[in-house]
Amino acid sequence: MSDARYFRVDYVINPYMDTAVQPDPAAAAAEHDALVAAHLAAGRKVELLASAPECPDMVYTANAAVVRGRRAVLANLPPERRAETPYHHEWFADNGFEVIESPYPFSGQGDALACGDLLLAGYGQRTDPRAHDVVAEFLGYGIVPLRTTGPRWYDLDLVVAVLGPALLAYYPDALDAPSRARLRGLGLELIEVGEREATAFALNLVSDGTTVTMTAGAPELAGRLRERGLTVVELDTTQLRKGGGGVRCTALTLDNR
Ligand code: ARG
Repeated sequence: MSDARYFRVDYVINPYMDTAVQPDPAAAAAEHDALVAAHLAAGRKVELLASAPECPDMVYTANAAVVRGRRAVLANLPPERRAETPYHHEWFADNGFEVIESPYPFSGQGDALACGDLLLAGYGQRTDPRAHDVVAEFLGYGIVPLRTTGPRWYDLDLVVAVLGPALLAYYPDALDAPSRARLRGLGLELIEVGEREATAFALNLVSDGTTVTMTAGAPELAGRLRERGLTVVELDTTQLRKGGGGVRCTALTLDNR
């Protein structure tokens, strides 16, 4: 994770951003602190990478890379966010990871959700499908390509959530028909989320299979997860939403098996 110190809306690269609607710095910092605290309370370990002043979106560390074992494939971000990548690269190198950069547009874990040996791999917005081949080769995942249907779904982590080894949640309308069929063909249990909660970033969550950390304001999904015995922690993401992100966007998973 990073921090919200320099979080601002300086440009518009997704339909949720509006430079006239800026985050409140103190509220954003408090929101981010609460997220870190929630991960720690769930028994997760958190590494922190300090944000940089020239990187107003650096709080969304999920876009940095996708990681498996001691290997990381760095993202190839939109031009507005390219200044983040040297910081990410340095962090991985300093922490003993073997790193490659994607030569093709790639949104990092934003478009790459690990599910065991499979990688649910988004494309069509920020990720070129050729990046999937690079990731498959370097990290050894089987790729499940999933095309999102428009700019509102600029990253797959707004559309699909991995809750455990055999349980996913998703918003069907944000995937094209062949992608929906691929997802349904995996033989995993699928929870469908409606448009209202998907648009509220309900699916942009972190789950370790026991505790789900998610945004407040999505009571239907929260209720269905509790019915399945999961512990659900709902947090305010009002400020983070102004950049078009939520809980999942702020955390890059480092311990994918
Ligand atoms: N403002 C950021 C962008 O548009 C938000 C990124 C959110 N990250 C995510 N994994 N969905 O790039």
